[in-house]
Amino acid sequence: MPRLHVIGGSRLSGSVRISGAKNAAVAIIPAALLTEATVRIENLPNIYDIHVLVKILQSLGVKTVWETPSTLLIDPSTLSSWQPPYELVKKLRASYYFLGSLVGRYGQAVVPVPGGCDLGPRPIDQHIKGLAALGANVNMEHGLIKVSATKLTGANIYLDVVSVGATINIMLAATRASGRTVIENAAKEPEIVDVANFLNAMGAKIRGAGTDVIRITGVNELGPVSHTVIPDRIEAGTYMVAGAATGGDVLLHEVIPKHLDPLTAKLREMDIQVEVADDSIRVIGNPCPLAADIKTFPYPGFPTDMQALAMVLLTQADGSSMITENVFENRFKHVDELKRMGAQIKLEGRTAFITGRTRLSGAPVKATDLRAGAAFIVAGLIAEGETVISDINHIYRGYENICEKMAALGAQIKEIE
Ligand code: EPZ
Repeated sequence: MPRLHVIGGSRLSGSVRISGAKNAAVAIIPAALLTEATVRIENLPNIYDIHVLVKILQSLGVKTVWETPSTLLIDPSTLSSWQPPYELVKKLRASYYFLGSLVGRYGQAVVPVPGGCDLGPRPIDQHIKGLAALGANVNMEHGLIKVSATKLTGANIYLDVVSVGATINIMLAATRASGRTVIENAAKEPEIVDVANFLNAMGAKIRGAGTDVIRITGVNELGPVSHTVIPDRIEAGTYMVAGAATGGDVLLHEVIPKHLDPLTAKLREMDIQVEVADDSIRVIGNPCPLAADIKTFPYPGFPTDMQALAMVLLTQADGSSMITENVFENRFKHVDELKRMGAQIKLEGRTAFITGRTRLSGAPVKATDLRAGAAFIVAGLIAEGETVISDINHIYRGYENICEKMAALGAQIKEIE
């Protein structure tokens, strides 16, 4: 199995181009099935999850062509099945977006129940609540979610939990439901806005994406679309933290600075210099940043996907810090591994107490999810000695060319067998 070998001590410097947003792309590709016309998607990140989704489209009879390494052409007119194969779908939690798009297009969808993962149980009760409210019959048997609807009718849906996935999935199905749908207590992540822009460009009528009330008027016909995926704010945040933690000087190109506001604010609170321009951000690390307290919340709160990375940075801060994880029940799986590298962290329920100014030392660690994997890379960059990270497929699922991009910034990192 491939592993990443990192040698600590380099200060990252230079510039890095940020790729398209994974969490927008993994919804936009299934959403392409809502139209019968040609779909062109630019700025797709070259990551494992995208290639699995393209294989799923092909398994459903849909033609796909890579016009460039990051531009995909999809011809959804030849869609011939509503049951993506188990072998492919179980690799990717976001395959639940095929529920919303297939039932919107076809009135049918059969998708395996997405596995839980290392963030704790990840129910999809709000997805099901929304699809049922639109008139779909939803039942689960033999590990499959079977959704069918002779007709989808607009409805008012009030989400019990602010959920990115449920908000998007309901938006997909409602796009072709008859009448008006209102989603209240909707998630406001930038990726949701990107999906709504993609759907509106093909003729959908969606208003309010990015706020907690989204209004959709169903349409019968959807046309062709050409769309450019927004930059990945979590990939960007990863390089910002890597530059800060190594005391380096890193310039990120092709970002939407606004999407990074919660992280930028926190880094500045830690006395780390962050310079923001139109589509770039520069981070200049401070050898001894100030301690800070972080609470993760849905956007525009501090992103849960940056929690593990922020934790690594806080191990170097001048003083004690606290991180409270409010989004997922169990997203501290990386703490034990960080403690093996010398971090001093105490967990009490949803809160981690981090002692600052701790010397980290390289060790063999295991990536438990892609953001924890990225956090171990940053920990390895600041640790004394060598770190070997296993289970790096998690990392490759969501980070395009992370080895090359980090090495280009001066990191001593390489893949080993
Ligand atoms: C999306 O996951 C992202 N994944 C996650 O990023 C991200 O951490 C998460 O949103 C929160 O921002 C993709 O977009 C593919 P949720 P999602 O539904 O949609 C509970 C990464 O690293 N919930 O917003 O699955 C759920 O258990 C990944 O790129 C229900 O209770 O997250 C969680 O506690 C990791 N019932 C909370 O809501 C539901 O029906 C937020 O989950 C759905 C969710």
